[in-house]
Amino acid sequence: MTSRRAVLQTGLLGALVAFLPGIAEAKALGTKACKVTDIAVGQGKVVTVSGNPVLITRTSKGFKAFSAKCTHQGCTIPAPVNGTSTCPCHRAQFNATTGAATHGPASKSLAKKTATVSAGYVYIK
Ligand code: FES
Repeated sequence: MTSRRAVLQTGLLGALVAFLPGIAEAKALGTKACKVTDIAVGQGKVVTVSGNPVLITRTSKGFKAFSAKCTHQGCTIPAPVNGTSTCPCHRAQFNATTGAATHGPASKSLAKKTATVSAGYVYIK
């Protein structure tokens, strides 16, 4: 005869075993940033991921992500307009698809992040 305690322990262990792969998968994907449908093809959005601004852009080939901190002096750049994000502080410009600095005073590209799509959401790592 199985005791109530044994049944309870087995149930808890089973739940834990079922839960752990989900945690590992979430860590592999990164941090959930937005829904896929939040960004139309050719558009972009700035979201906060783990306290940092991240520029996510969508092309016909998928999603790209970059740090949204301007490489000049660190101001947060906005969502792109016509494929270009213009820093509000000193007007540096960045290509929203490649992250390249296209107009000074910034000369370095935006730092690249990894964008992964899973189950309708964009994850950033
Ligand atoms: S901080 Fe962006 S252009 Fe100066």
